[in-house]
Amino acid sequence: MLIRRPPDIASSEITPKELYLRRREFIGGVVAASVLGAIGVEDARAAKIDAAKSPLSTTETVTRREDATTYNNFYEFGTGKDDPGRKAHTLTTAPWSVKIDGLVNKPATYTLEDVLKSAPLEERIYRLRCVEGWSMVIPWIGFPLAAVLNRAGVQSKAKYVAFETLVRPAEMPGQSGLFQPLPWPYVEGLRLDEAMHPLTILASGMYGESLPNQNGAPLRLVVPWKYGFKSIKSIVAIRLVETQPPTTWQTSDAGEYGFFSNVNPEVDHPRWSQATERRIGEGSGLFVKRRPTLMFNGYADQVASLYAGLDLKANY
Ligand code: MTE
Repeated sequence: MLIRRPPDIASSEITPKELYLRRREFIGGVVAASVLGAIGVEDARAAKIDAAKSPLSTTETVTRREDATTYNNFYEFGTGKDDPGRKAHTLTTAPWSVKIDGLVNKPATYTLEDVLKSAPLEERIYRLRCVEGWSMVIPWIGFPLAAVLNRAGVQSKAKYVAFETLVRPAEMPGQSGLFQPLPWPYVEGLRLDEAMHPLTILASGMYGESLPNQNGAPLRLVVPWKYGFKSIKSIVAIRLVETQPPTTWQTSDAGEYGFFSNVNPEVDHPRWSQATERRIGEGSGLFVKRRPTLMFNGYADQVASLYAGLDLKANY
């Protein structure tokens, strides 16, 4: 498949001029992550974020920012790879709140600013492998999901974590229109031990700045050893539950998408092989280079023990 990409949309084209100019002034200085909450949405979107570099980062070449922000899956804005980059600027991301409830001691609706205070922000450079057979290397800015869950106080009965994306058809064109590609809200889930794993992060930024809308602003999940669709964007609710929660892609087609969705070159998708992948930005057309896909996306040393004794073919 030949993929055409539109040029990156300059922020000056999608932001009222006055805000854009203010933003330029604003990012002139160094802005600490902790002040993100004190600034408006348009400014926050472009804010530089100071974050310590995490030793959990890969040293592989980082994907160009332009590729990572114009080649996306975010079906709330359409099913085309260029739809999110072209359309997601319509989403209002401030004010934003995240409800954390279910089997926790302190159920609450947190403001985004409060969630961001859960732990220091870090830059984590992770491989992202999409189930469709492409991959990128992205410098996320985030913090362990475990920090938020521990703050809420996970009760002993909780075995899974369920996540939910915003439903707002007025600002998400993929949720209005005649063709609805998926049931809304987009929902995802992790087993509690996966959610608590130090590699699992909530990200609020990438490439040294706050997240662009098309990449899941203002807060998304990143689980680097699982196929990209587990990394749910624009999260509004996190619920601790006792039984395995439904997930969007499994609900849509359980034969093709399982709950675990661990990257596994030995377990093919029913319609295509998962043995290799195309790293976005490496060649095009006839010259596309494919590289072998690694077990658990290269994070086997850290996560394989979570699945000891589990049949990974049956539990895809
Ligand atoms: N989250 C929501 N809410 N809606 C989506 O359509 N797509 C998923 C995931 N999170 C999706 C989502 C898929 S299929 C992938 S591969 C990643 O987001 C892509 O993330 P990126 O666009 O930042 O690379």
